[in-house]
Amino acid sequence: MEPSLIAADLDVRHFTHDDLSQIRQALIDVHADAYADAMDDEFNQRFPWFVDHWGGNPGFACVIAYDGDQAVGFAYGAPANPDREWWREHLDPAPEKHRTFSFSEMAVRTKYRKTGAAALLARALVEGRGEDLAVLLVDTEHPRVQALYESWGYRKVGERQPFPDSPVYAVMLTELPLS
Ligand SMILES: CC(C)(COP(=O)(O)OP(=O)(O)OC[C@H]1O[C@@H](n2cnc3c(N)ncnc32)[C@H](O)[C@@H]1OP(=O)(O)O)[C@@H](O)C(=O)NCCC(=O)NCCS
Repeated sequence: MEPSLIAADLDVRHFTHDDLSQIRQALIDVHADAYADAMDDEFNQRFPWFVDHWGGNPGFACVIAYDGDQAVGFAYGAPANPDREWWREHLDPAPEKHRTFSFSEMAVRTKYRKTGAAALLARALVEGRGEDLAVLLVDTEHPRVQALYESWGYRKVGERQPFPDSPVYAVMLTELPLS
């Protein structure tokens, strides 16, 4: 069957911590396709560690878009630890709302770019969640990706480099539900 290149035809499925072993390889495969031209970067090569780290969180939430039985994109995250809402240091004054969802990673196979798949996944990940805010990091050297998140309602509130070998990231925040 020919692959479908219209996001509306994709099947978006939700997964949790309990599903990690079932979806782990699909996440790694999609990531390898999405970052194919940047896999010489050691940070990108550590992706399986990040999958296990985030997937090991009991609150892990993941959405995967399937075209037939092929995973073509994913988005995942987990509720932020209430005592470690590090983004707050970037806000003055800090908002009263205090439950935050950390949107950790998203990737879409190159063939499915500009189909609406990424928007579908970004929205599906946070839809119906109990948190009031969602936070994510975008490489400051990827302004087009930052613009994409801005188009979905996120705004830059600061910058952060979580690991010495990681990029410098723009910290982006939005209120939930997305409008
Ligand atoms: C981010 C992503 C899901 C968006 O998919 P999409 O909505 O179909 O949008 P596009 O792929 O067209 O990306 C939007 C713009 O960002 C740019 N972009 C996307 N990923 C990029 C990356 N890793 N580095 C630099 N620029 C990137 C694209 O070139 C595009 O630029 P353009 O508008 O000038 O054409 C997809 O591009 C992807 O999987 N990228 C690789 C993984 C990634 O960067 N994830 C985001 C982590 S915060």
